[in-house]
Amino acid sequence: MRHLMSPLDFSVEELDALLDLANDIEKYPEKYAHACAGKKLATCFYEPSTRTRLSFEAAMLNLGGSVLGFSSADSSSAAKGESVSDTIRVISCYADICAMRHPKEGAPLVASQKSTIPVINAGDGGHQHPTQTLTDLLTIRSLKGELGNITIGLCGDLKFGRTVHSLIHALIRYPNVRFVLISPEELRVPSYIREDVLEAKHIPYTEVERLEDAMPELDILYMTRVQKERFFNEEDYIRLKDYYVLTKAKMELAKKDMLVLHPLPRVNEISVEVDDDPRAAYFRQAQYGVYVRMALILTLLEIKVE
Ligand code: CP
Repeated sequence: MRHLMSPLDFSVEELDALLDLANDIEKYPEKYAHACAGKKLATCFYEPSTRTRLSFEAAMLNLGGSVLGFSSADSSSAAKGESVSDTIRVISCYADICAMRHPKEGAPLVASQKSTIPVINAGDGGHQHPTQTLTDLLTIRSLKGELGNITIGLCGDLKFGRTVHSLIHALIRYPNVRFVLISPEELRVPSYIREDVLEAKHIPYTEVERLEDAMPELDILYMTRVQKERFFNEEDYIRLKDYYVLTKAKMELAKKDMLVLHPLPRVNEISVEVDDDPRAAYFRQAQYGVYVRMALILTLLEIKVE
């Protein structure tokens, strides 16, 4: 039995196979419409979510399976003090696979150690968000044709942004990937990623504070939200929340085929006027999230469709 805690739980070859499967699902959805008949997905979300929870649910429904779960800690027995370990032992009696989001780093890993069904980390605190990374990889490969040979700008909250941390870990395995890390001083990529991952593996990167300075060289701009829920101090959040706003004027500095990605939700960091730019790919990215989660459910349940 396999779980998914980090994008690195899959080898590059396994990831390729998963993304190929997701592309096949996109092309021939009817082939997969009953692949999970009789199977149940539990979504255990201790933190708010729109895309991750609902795209997991849509994925299982598209595969002919069923879904159950809770969407907040308050509506589960966590509110009465039940541990994640006990909860997953019980969920294992009710479902075949579980997607779990939790505000505490490592909580899905703890769950996986007590589980008798595959557990998927659907985001744990500021740590990792592997299924967002699978979504990002599928989007980049589908729209750019490959995962290597890119200069990618990561912009916004690079300190607490788990989507950014997972994406860096995943992309360094491909050739000729360069990172431009765009953040204010307070929200820089943590040193355990900058030094222990990028520098240790000799991955080229630069750090800049102004988005305008980075725009012309980027093949992909990955925008992120400054996350209110990760700040200890409201004043810091208010000072930093509108630090970056991608506008039509800034898009004029970019390459004609640059892609704009964002894990969403956005607040103010991408002006709505950018949505109509053909380079804005964040809503297509959300659609790819369903295909890749369908592929992941099939892979972890070891269901093959001929
Ligand atoms: N991208 C993402 O994780 O969105 P949600 O928080 O809405 O699930």
